[in-house]
Amino acid sequence: MALGRRGYDIRIGPGLLAEAASYKALRGRLVRIVTDANVAPLYLQPLLAALGLSAAEVLVLPAGESQKTWANAETVLDWLLRARLPRDGVLVALGGGVIGDLAGFCAALYQRGIDFVQIPTTLLAQVDSSVGGKTGVNHARGKNMIGAFHQPRAVIADTDVLRTLPPRELAAGLAEVIKCGLLGDAALFAHLERDLDRLLTLDAEVLADAIERCCTLKARVVAADERESLQGGGGPRALLNLGHTFGHAVETHTHYESWLHGEAVGLGLCMAADMSARLGWIAAADAARVTELVRRAGLPVRPPAGMRPQDFMDLMALDKKAAGGRMRLVLLRAVGDAVVSADFDPAALERTLAEFCGAA
Ligand SMILES: NC(=O)c1ccc[n+]([C@@H]2O[C@H](COP(=O)([O-])OP(=O)(O)OC[C@H]3O[C@@H](n4cnc5c(N)ncnc54)[C@H](O)[C@@H]3O)[C@@H](O)[C@H]2O)c1
Repeated sequence: MALGRRGYDIRIGPGLLAEAASYKALRGRLVRIVTDANVAPLYLQPLLAALGLSAAEVLVLPAGESQKTWANAETVLDWLLRARLPRDGVLVALGGGVIGDLAGFCAALYQRGIDFVQIPTTLLAQVDSSVGGKTGVNHARGKNMIGAFHQPRAVIADTDVLRTLPPRELAAGLAEVIKCGLLGDAALFAHLERDLDRLLTLDAEVLADAIERCCTLKARVVAADERESLQGGGGPRALLNLGHTFGHAVETHTHYESWLHGEAVGLGLCMAADMSARLGWIAAADAARVTELVRRAGLPVRPPAGMRPQDFMDLMALDKKAAGGRMRLVLLRAVGDAVVSADFDPAALERTLAEFCGAA
């Protein structure tokens, strides 16, 4: 990740947990680890053994999105203070995006900011959330509403750990991989069309290639617009939200309970592609390729039963990407080329919503 002095290494491949002690960001440092109750029984011991640590240096939180709270941030901070972790200590996040976002946020706050290392254990975290420095917790009034930009000192993505991931979580991560191909890496998209079956069986070569391409793309986008501050929030980093405005509407409509984030993003990709085709920006055949790939990944390609076009309109208007009263969407100019735009014919959006909600 090229961010000057805040740049860091992202390592991807099998067997990396066992090599944790070889990382400069961890070697010879006082280390504390935050993880969750699903990941701890699977991967904590190998990591502790690699780093020569004991269970006393670990905080295990319950698993799940509902744990990404201010209350748990306080729990982590309190634990760090009681342990008197010095300012030059390191906090390690061992887990999926929930643990990464929460621990990263605590690392940003503790004594005004300490180093942290991401050891992502879900596909979503390996291709997306562990890279880029967005950290935070949810609030009753909105997801990720309290947070900080705080870049990790290293990201260690051991692909072996994905073997224990539930298939639904793997598919949710694949939605973000497809997103990366669509928004900026046409070759990745083509590889996915060709090799999706190998990816679903966690073929090491295909997996490492896909994760590396996603991290490279994300690193490039983040380096260009680290804090999503360019062009009033509609700059390069906003491209990473492809599919997310549609997806957030589904997540909010279903109260973040029945759809995983990646599932909603997968549907959002189909909807953004469909709308781009209706605008004449991409070929209808390319929109069909997107839906077919999302479907093959095992992700839903239709909104939840009963969700109406107006539900989408109401929720999408609230999305943070609404700029100056106009809805701003990430749309496609080609497979591998996305654009942030508020300048589109609203009729195309209406037709997409009608089509997907079965009201066409
Ligand atoms: N910071 C960012 O830029 C960014 C980007 C995208 C998403 N996110 C955030 O990421 C979070 C979602 O992340 P997630 O999908 O990784 O969810 P998660 O952390 O809840 O993990 C999903 C589930 O898989 C379990 N798990 C994790 N690794 C496992 C493994 N190797 N084997 C078996 N089970 C395992 C977890 O315990 C959990 O039950 C959301 O809170 C989202 O807001 C952040």
